[in-house]
This record gives sequence, C-alpha cells and structure tokens, in this order.
Amino acid sequence: MKVIVCRNAEEAADLAAREILAALAAKPDLVLGLATGSTPIGVYSRLIRAHRERGADFSRVRTFNLDEYLDLGPGHPKSYRAFMRRHLFDGLNVPEDRIHFPPAEGSGLADRCARFEDEILDAGGIDIQLLGIGSNGHIGFNEPTSSLRSRTRVLTLTAKTLEDNSRFYSPGEFQPQMAVTMGIGTILDARRIILQAFGAKKADAIRAATEGPVSSFCPGSALQIHPRALFLLDPEAGARLSMREHHLRARENEETLRREGRL
Ligand code: PGA
Repeated sequence: MKVIVCRNAEEAADLAAREILAALAAKPDLVLGLATGSTPIGVYSRLIRAHRERGADFSRVRTFNLDEYLDLGPGHPKSYRAFMRRHLFDGLNVPEDRIHFPPAEGSGLADRCARFEDEILDAGGIDIQLLGIGSNGHIGFNEPTSSLRSRTRVLTLTAKTLEDNSRFYSPGEFQPQMAVTMGIGTILDARRIILQAFGAKKADAIRAATEGPVSSFCPGSALQIHPRALFLLDPEAGARLSMREHHLRARENEETLRREGRL
C-alpha cells in the first residue's frame, strides 16, 4: 500500500491519469475498472483531454464499472451509466460493446452478477481499478460488514450512504435504496488499484482504511492486503493520518531515486 498526500486534488488527478495513460501506452487493450462519484471526474477530464489533444487511443480498451443503482434504467439521468456517458464515454473512443456495467434491472440478477464476474475473467482481469471511498469506508457500494471476499451482488445501501447521496435528489424524488456492486474480492483481484479521496469528510475513512485493522467494518481497509494499491489524497483527506510525515518523506525519497534513474 502506497499513500501519497498530494498538494491538492488536481495533482492527485494528474498522477492517476498519468498512471492510466502510461499503462495504456504499454498495453493498448488495457482493462479498466471505473468508478463514479465526484472524486474521479478530474481523472476522466484528463483522459478525455489526452484523447482529444494527444491522440490517446481507447478503441481496444475494455471497461468494467464498479456499481449501479438497482432499477434506475440506463437512460435515467442519475444512473451511473448516464454519469459515465456524461463524464467519460462521450469524450472517448471506447466502443460500446467494450463497456460493461453490473446488471441492475430485470430478473435473474444473481446469475447475471456471476456472468459479469466471468466477463471480467474473459477480458483477462482488471489491470487498473479506480476507486473512491465513502465517508463510511465503503468501496464500490460494499458497505460496512461486506465480506472481504465478496463478489458482485445486489445489496441494500446504508442510511449513511443514502444520506451522503441525498444531495443529488430533490425532496420527494425516488432515491434508490439498493444497488449492485463488484465485491471486495472482485476489487482485490485487480492487478493495480488507485484510490483517490478528497476533502475533510473523508479523513476518518482514510485513517481507518490505511491505519486501522483490516476489517469488514471498513471495506477500504481490505486494500491493505493488495500488493499494488495506491492512495492519492488531498491534504484534507490525509489530515488525520499519524503516518502523514512519513508518507511525505517516502515520496521525496522515491522521487530522488527516480530522478537518479534507479527506480
Ligand atoms: P464521492 O463518492 O466520489 O462522490 O465522494 C465516493 C464513494 O462514495 O465511493
């Protein structure tokens, strides 16, 4: 687990986008795991800019989104499919049939969740999984007490998540109470994980995820057992880390080695 406390969210998005674009240059058929929410938007705008201005080619990329609300159709403006179209896919050249979401409508959901897992395997597994984290420590929609080896499934959102997301709904508007999400086990199978977190309201979750015990009560803490998990934080999200100074020093030392061509 590597933790970088960046100067600000812009720098974190720059670093995440750079990692993804370098991986794409090395592997044109990169398999990306993608997240929604306010956190990844800066990365997505940078990927779109790289595509438009520098010809970054996403035509062989395959994408798998982490989660989707149950029963919000793809045309619903608050569905995650609509979100991804608006913030990423409309600006990139990923072919439609290479974009995957967990099943969130209709019947046979358990079987179709298993098929979604098979599709990830058939694609060769996820190369880089982008993540945010909820203020309650959730990753994807894996709420506290989700099994650390859980797979893609339907689940009920906690009151905390509903409250955090209520800002997107007007009073009286239908707000989904259930969702479909990749499991923590699914996420841990990705070869690399980049988790971004911004703002003071994430500081406790980040401390629990990186300095607390590995516990299903803080799903983000599962990343402690992943061999290549990178946390990119702004100063506010990293403000409660007891290891903050160490992370800053570690970054400087690594940059020195890199400048010397030794890393
Ligand atoms: P946010 O959501 O990016 O909108 O803060 C993150 C999450 O709940 O996983």
